[in-house]
Amino acid sequence: MSELLRLEGITKSYRMPDGSSLDILSGIDLSLREGEVVSIAGRSGSGKSTLLSIAALLLAPDEGRILYEGRDVSGLSAKEMQSLRSRSVGFVFQSSLLLEDFTVLENAAMPLLIQGMKPREAYSEAERLLDKVGLLDRRDYRPRLLSGGERQRAAIARALAPSPLVIFADEPTGSLDERTAASIEALMLDTVRSEGRCMLTVTHNRDFAAKADRMLTLSEGRLLDGNV
Ligand SMILES: Nc1ncnc2c1ncn2[C@@H]1O[C@H](COP(=O)(O)OP(=O)(O)OP(=O)(O)O)[C@@H](O)[C@H]1O
Ligand SMILES: [Mg+2]
Repeated sequence: MSELLRLEGITKSYRMPDGSSLDILSGIDLSLREGEVVSIAGRSGSGKSTLLSIAALLLAPDEGRILYEGRDVSGLSAKEMQSLRSRSVGFVFQSSLLLEDFTVLENAAMPLLIQGMKPREAYSEAERLLDKVGLLDRRDYRPRLLSGGERQRAAIARALAPSPLVIFADEPTGSLDERTAASIEALMLDTVRSEGRCMLTVTHNRDFAAKADRMLTLSEGRLLDGNV
Protein backbone atom coordinates (compact mmCIF):
# COMPACT_ATOMS: atom_id res chain seq x y z
CA MET A 1 0.00 0.00 0.00
CA SER A 2 1.43 3.34 -0.88
CA GLU A 3 2.01 6.15 1.55
CA LEU A 4 -0.14 9.22 0.87
CA LEU A 5 0.88 11.50 3.73
CA ARG A 6 3.88 11.60 6.00
CA LEU A 7 4.71 13.96 8.85
CA GLU A 8 8.24 13.98 10.26
CA GLY A 9 9.39 15.75 13.41
CA ILE A 10 6.62 18.36 13.38
CA THR A 11 6.87 20.97 16.14
CA LYS A 12 4.69 23.99 16.86
CA SER A 13 4.65 26.63 19.58
CA TYR A 14 2.25 29.54 19.92
CA ARG A 15 3.14 32.99 21.23
CA MET A 16 0.96 33.77 24.27
CA PRO A 17 -0.48 37.26 24.80
CA ASP A 18 2.10 37.86 27.58
CA GLY A 19 4.91 37.15 25.11
CA SER A 20 5.83 33.72 26.45
CA SER A 21 5.82 30.68 24.23
CA LEU A 22 3.40 27.76 24.49
CA ASP A 23 4.71 24.44 23.13
CA ILE A 24 1.87 22.52 21.51
CA LEU A 25 3.51 19.90 19.29
CA SER A 26 6.97 18.58 20.18
CA GLY A 27 7.97 16.13 17.49
CA ILE A 28 5.10 14.46 15.66
CA ASP A 29 5.76 11.58 13.26
CA LEU A 30 2.82 10.12 11.41
CA SER A 31 2.22 8.21 8.22
CA LEU A 32 -1.04 7.53 6.41
CA ARG A 33 -1.36 4.91 3.70
CA GLU A 34 -3.91 4.36 0.98
CA GLY A 35 -7.28 3.32 2.41
CA GLU A 36 -6.19 4.01 5.98
CA VAL A 37 -8.23 5.78 8.65
CA VAL A 38 -6.44 7.11 11.73
CA SER A 39 -8.26 8.62 14.68
CA ILE A 40 -6.80 11.06 17.19
CA ALA A 41 -8.11 11.61 20.69
CA GLY A 42 -6.77 13.85 23.44
CA ARG A 43 -7.76 16.44 26.01
CA SER A 44 -9.24 19.76 24.96
CA GLY A 45 -6.36 22.11 24.21
CA SER A 46 -3.86 19.31 23.58
CA GLY A 47 -3.27 20.49 20.00
CA LYS A 48 -5.42 18.19 17.84
CA SER A 49 -6.86 20.94 15.65
CA THR A 50 -3.40 22.50 15.39
CA LEU A 51 -1.99 19.19 14.15
CA LEU A 52 -4.76 18.79 11.57
CA SER A 53 -4.30 22.36 10.32
CA ILE A 54 -0.58 21.75 9.85
CA ALA A 55 -1.07 18.41 8.08
CA ALA A 56 -3.72 20.02 5.84
CA LEU A 57 -1.26 22.79 4.88
CA LEU A 58 -3.37 25.52 6.45
CA LEU A 59 -0.79 26.38 9.11
CA ALA A 60 3.01 26.22 8.88
CA PRO A 61 4.88 24.12 11.46
CA ASP A 62 7.94 25.56 13.24
CA GLU A 63 10.02 22.54 12.28
CA GLY A 64 9.56 19.23 10.50
CA ARG A 65 8.66 17.90 7.09
CA ILE A 66 5.32 17.22 5.41
CA LEU A 67 5.25 14.88 2.44
CA TYR A 68 2.29 14.25 0.14
CA GLU A 69 2.79 11.06 -1.91
CA GLY A 70 6.47 11.18 -1.03
CA ARG A 71 6.94 14.78 -2.13
CA ASP A 72 8.19 17.31 0.42
CA VAL A 73 5.81 20.27 0.27
CA SER A 74 8.44 22.75 1.51
CA GLY A 75 9.84 22.96 -2.03
CA LEU A 76 6.52 24.00 -3.57
CA SER A 77 5.73 27.49 -4.82
CA ALA A 78 2.62 29.23 -3.46
CA LYS A 79 0.78 28.30 -6.64
CA GLU A 80 1.80 24.64 -6.47
CA MET A 81 0.80 24.58 -2.80
CA GLN A 82 -2.63 25.99 -3.68
CA SER A 83 -3.10 23.41 -6.38
CA LEU A 84 -2.00 20.56 -4.08
CA ARG A 85 -4.46 21.79 -1.46
CA SER A 86 -7.39 21.95 -3.86
CA ARG A 87 -6.63 18.56 -5.45
CA SER A 88 -5.52 16.56 -2.44
CA VAL A 89 -6.91 17.97 0.78
CA GLY A 90 -10.46 17.79 2.10
CA PHE A 91 -11.21 19.38 5.45
CA VAL A 92 -14.21 19.22 7.75
CA PHE A 93 -13.74 21.73 10.56
CA GLN A 94 -15.20 21.75 14.06
CA SER A 95 -17.36 24.67 12.96
CA SER A 96 -17.29 24.43 9.23
CA LEU A 97 -17.63 27.55 7.20
CA LEU A 98 -20.12 27.53 4.39
CA LEU A 99 -20.39 30.35 1.89
CA GLU A 100 -23.49 32.14 3.13
CA ASP A 101 -24.33 33.82 -0.17
CA PHE A 102 -24.55 30.52 -2.01
CA THR A 103 -27.04 27.69 -1.80
CA VAL A 104 -26.26 24.33 -0.25
CA LEU A 105 -25.91 22.83 -3.73
CA GLU A 106 -23.54 25.59 -4.84
CA ASN A 107 -21.49 25.14 -1.67
CA ALA A 108 -21.11 21.42 -2.33
CA ALA A 109 -20.28 21.97 -6.01
CA MET A 110 -17.81 24.82 -5.38
CA PRO A 111 -14.60 22.78 -5.02
CA LEU A 112 -15.43 20.93 -8.23
CA LEU A 113 -16.13 24.15 -10.14
CA ILE A 114 -12.86 25.61 -8.83
CA GLN A 115 -11.07 22.54 -10.16
CA GLY A 116 -12.52 23.28 -13.57
CA MET A 117 -15.23 20.62 -13.78
CA LYS A 118 -18.12 21.47 -16.12
CA PRO A 119 -21.05 22.95 -14.13
CA ARG A 120 -23.49 20.25 -15.22
CA GLU A 121 -21.17 17.48 -13.95
CA ALA A 122 -20.21 19.40 -10.81
CA TYR A 123 -23.85 19.96 -9.83
CA SER A 124 -24.76 16.38 -10.54
CA GLU A 125 -21.87 15.07 -8.40
CA ALA A 126 -22.80 17.55 -5.64
CA GLU A 127 -26.40 16.30 -5.77
CA ARG A 128 -25.24 12.71 -5.46
CA LEU A 129 -23.32 13.57 -2.28
CA LEU A 130 -26.08 15.72 -0.81
CA ASP A 131 -28.38 12.76 -1.31
CA LYS A 132 -25.91 10.53 0.56
CA VAL A 133 -25.78 12.88 3.54
CA GLY A 134 -29.58 13.25 3.47
CA LEU A 135 -29.71 16.88 2.38
CA LEU A 136 -30.96 16.74 -1.17
CA ASP A 137 -34.26 18.38 -0.21
CA ARG A 138 -32.32 21.34 1.23
CA ARG A 139 -30.18 21.90 -1.84
CA ASP A 140 -31.66 25.32 -2.64
CA TYR A 141 -31.42 26.60 0.95
CA ARG A 142 -28.98 29.26 2.04
CA PRO A 143 -26.79 27.90 4.87
CA ARG A 144 -28.23 30.28 7.48
CA LEU A 145 -31.55 28.43 7.33
CA LEU A 146 -29.93 25.08 8.07
CA SER A 147 -29.76 23.49 11.50
CA GLY A 148 -26.30 22.95 13.05
CA GLY A 149 -26.26 19.29 12.08
CA GLU A 150 -27.41 20.07 8.55
CA ARG A 151 -24.57 22.59 8.17
CA GLN A 152 -22.17 19.92 9.30
CA ARG A 153 -23.56 17.46 6.75
CA ALA A 154 -23.37 20.06 3.98
CA ALA A 155 -19.71 20.65 4.91
CA ILE A 156 -19.04 16.91 4.75
CA ALA A 157 -20.62 16.67 1.29
CA ARG A 158 -18.44 19.58 0.17
CA ALA A 159 -15.29 17.97 1.61
CA LEU A 160 -15.98 14.63 -0.09
CA ALA A 161 -17.07 16.08 -3.45
CA PRO A 162 -13.64 16.53 -5.06
CA SER A 163 -12.49 13.05 -3.89
CA PRO A 164 -9.46 14.43 -2.07
CA LEU A 165 -6.46 12.22 -1.45
CA VAL A 166 -6.46 12.99 2.26
CA ILE A 167 -9.51 13.92 4.31
CA PHE A 168 -9.02 15.74 7.59
CA ALA A 169 -12.03 15.67 9.83
CA ASP A 170 -12.11 17.56 13.13
CA GLU A 171 -14.98 16.10 15.16
CA PRO A 172 -16.98 15.73 11.94
CA THR A 173 -20.10 14.33 13.54
CA GLY A 174 -19.89 16.15 16.87
CA SER A 175 -23.15 18.04 16.42
CA LEU A 176 -25.19 15.13 15.07
CA ASP A 177 -27.53 12.72 16.84
CA GLU A 178 -26.25 9.17 17.25
CA ARG A 179 -28.07 7.65 14.30
CA THR A 180 -27.26 10.39 11.80
CA ALA A 181 -23.66 10.42 13.06
CA ALA A 182 -23.34 6.68 12.53
CA SER A 183 -24.62 6.88 8.94
CA ILE A 184 -22.34 9.81 8.07
CA GLU A 185 -19.36 8.06 9.66
CA ALA A 186 -20.12 4.94 7.62
CA LEU A 187 -20.27 7.07 4.46
CA MET A 188 -16.90 8.70 5.23
CA LEU A 189 -15.23 5.38 6.04
CA ASP A 190 -16.66 3.73 2.92
CA THR A 191 -15.55 6.57 0.68
CA VAL A 192 -12.02 6.55 2.06
CA ARG A 193 -11.61 2.79 1.93
CA SER A 194 -13.30 2.07 -1.39
CA GLU A 195 -11.55 4.92 -3.21
CA GLY A 196 -8.09 4.26 -1.71
CA ARG A 197 -7.93 7.65 0.01
CA CYS A 198 -6.97 8.18 3.64
CA MET A 199 -8.46 10.06 6.57
CA LEU A 200 -7.12 11.62 9.75
CA THR A 201 -9.95 12.33 12.13
CA VAL A 202 -10.25 13.86 15.57
CA THR A 203 -13.08 12.28 17.46
CA HIS A 204 -14.31 11.82 20.99
CA ASN A 205 -16.76 9.22 19.77
CA ARG A 206 -15.34 5.85 20.82
CA ASP A 207 -17.47 3.84 18.40
CA PHE A 208 -16.18 5.89 15.49
CA ALA A 209 -12.60 5.75 16.77
CA ALA A 210 -12.87 1.97 17.10
CA LYS A 211 -13.67 1.69 13.38
CA ALA A 212 -10.38 3.40 12.47
CA ASP A 213 -7.38 1.31 11.48
CA ARG A 214 -5.29 3.01 14.16
CA MET A 215 -6.20 5.03 17.24
CA LEU A 216 -3.74 7.58 18.57
CA THR A 217 -3.81 10.01 21.47
CA LEU A 218 -2.16 13.42 21.50
CA SER A 219 -0.68 14.14 24.90
CA GLU A 220 1.96 16.65 25.95
CA GLY A 221 2.90 17.37 22.37
CA ARG A 222 3.35 13.75 21.33
CA LEU A 223 1.29 11.05 19.65
CA LEU A 224 0.83 7.89 21.68
CA ASP A 225 -0.56 4.58 20.45
CA GLY A 226 -4.06 3.76 21.58
CA ASN A 227 -7.02 5.60 23.00
CA VAL A 228 -5.75 6.38 26.49
N1 LIG B 1 -3.11 31.20 17.32
C1 LIG B 1 -2.94 30.81 18.59
N2 LIG B 1 -2.21 31.57 19.44
C2 LIG B 1 -2.01 31.19 20.72
N3 LIG B 1 -2.50 30.05 21.26
C3 LIG B 1 -3.25 29.25 20.46
C4 LIG B 1 -3.52 29.60 19.10
N4 LIG B 1 -4.29 28.63 18.55
C5 LIG B 1 -4.49 27.71 19.54
N5 LIG B 1 -3.87 28.09 20.69
C6 LIG B 1 -3.84 27.32 21.93
O1 LIG B 1 -3.19 26.08 21.65
C7 LIG B 1 -3.81 25.01 22.34
C8 LIG B 1 -4.15 23.90 21.35
O2 LIG B 1 -5.25 24.30 20.55
P1 LIG B 1 -6.03 23.29 19.60
O3 LIG B 1 -7.14 24.04 19.00
O4 LIG B 1 -5.05 22.65 18.68
O5 LIG B 1 -6.55 22.21 20.69
P2 LIG B 1 -7.51 20.96 20.51
O6 LIG B 1 -6.78 19.75 20.99
O7 LIG B 1 -8.05 20.92 19.13
O8 LIG B 1 -8.69 21.27 21.55
P3 LIG B 1 -10.29 20.96 21.47
O9 LIG B 1 -10.44 19.49 21.78
O10 LIG B 1 -10.85 21.81 22.55
O11 LIG B 1 -10.78 21.33 20.12
C9 LIG B 1 -5.01 25.59 23.07
O12 LIG B 1 -4.68 25.67 24.42
C10 LIG B 1 -5.20 26.96 22.45
O13 LIG B 1 -5.65 27.87 23.41
MG1 LIG C 1 -9.95 21.20 18.31
